[in-house]
Amino acid sequence: MMVDNSWKAAGYVTEAVPEGTDLKAEIRRMCKEKNAVIMAHYYTEGVIQDVADFVGDSLALAQQAARTEADIIVMCGVHFMGETNKILCPEKKVLVPDLNATCSLAESCPAGEFEAFVKAHPGHTVISYVNTTAATKALTDIVVTSGNAMKIVNALPKEEKIVFGPDRNLGGYINAATGRDMVLWNGACHVHEKFSLEGILKLKQEHPDAKVLVHPECKESVVKVADKVGSTAVLLEFCQEDSATEFIVVTESGILHKMRQACPQKTFLPAPPEDNCGGCNECDYMRLITLEKLYNCLKYEWPEIEVDAQVAEKAVKCINRMLEMSK
Ligand code: 13P
Ligand code: SF4
Repeated sequence: MMVDNSWKAAGYVTEAVPEGTDLKAEIRRMCKEKNAVIMAHYYTEGVIQDVADFVGDSLALAQQAARTEADIIVMCGVHFMGETNKILCPEKKVLVPDLNATCSLAESCPAGEFEAFVKAHPGHTVISYVNTTAATKALTDIVVTSGNAMKIVNALPKEEKIVFGPDRNLGGYINAATGRDMVLWNGACHVHEKFSLEGILKLKQEHPDAKVLVHPECKESVVKVADKVGSTAVLLEFCQEDSATEFIVVTESGILHKMRQACPQKTFLPAPPEDNCGGCNECDYMRLITLEKLYNCLKYEWPEIEVDAQVAEKAVKCINRMLEMSK
């Protein structure tokens, strides 16, 4: 496929979609024609989730990639998710509709600096959150997601020394819950760090029966007021099974789309971010994925994710270890 050089610079296909195109119908038609599967994370726009074949949290997306029989995977999420899919399925074409969709956690942990950090802690097992680049994963012993991190850390002997990166909040949460003393990399997610404890408490006063659902990437002070802490999939499951009818949702607001679809009779209130940061409970990177970019990405089969073979060879081991340990 010829790739326009101006697209290369932009990181996505900039061509205008022909007027009158039924985007959803065309996207589904191309998926069938090309044997492509669309995977989407819960933080993408509702319209993306609705056109996808599979919507999930980071763990489910990796598990799904490992077993798909499609020839093309279109990952509607952020770059590291596309890399994880490519590492698990090197023979498949993996597309991400906009290469600018990175992640503040992955960016906070460049491989060169992480390597020096790991070297400064000899004898430690290296655990990395899945929100890392392939190059950082290549320096890792076991990858975790927020859905399995506690289980995986608990499966290691109590005396095992651990370096954990890059999310200091998730790492701190696991340390507090397990009594471990993992050495933490100092990274954080720009969305989850910004939730306002005061705002959540005010909302709780106005809705005293509402249960507070918190993602473990949030600050400790926010995690402490949670009724349930967990990955996006865990929070989604909880709101379906719990008898409460109101929930304050302290994670990226894209998840509210699935929660409202799953429980139309319940009320979901997005937790407020700190003052003066309007819209910052939305991940800027996830929201770069639009229906137009998805359409063009399928049409031109670009941008395609490539992972250096040597990096992939190392990274696949720690991802497979995670998949094995989360069975
Ligand atoms: P989960 O979907 O695993 O909860 O992760 C949240 C996240 O920030 C993805 O980037
Ligand atoms: Fe990364 Fe935060 Fe966006 Fe998740 S919400 S993809 S951790 S920047």
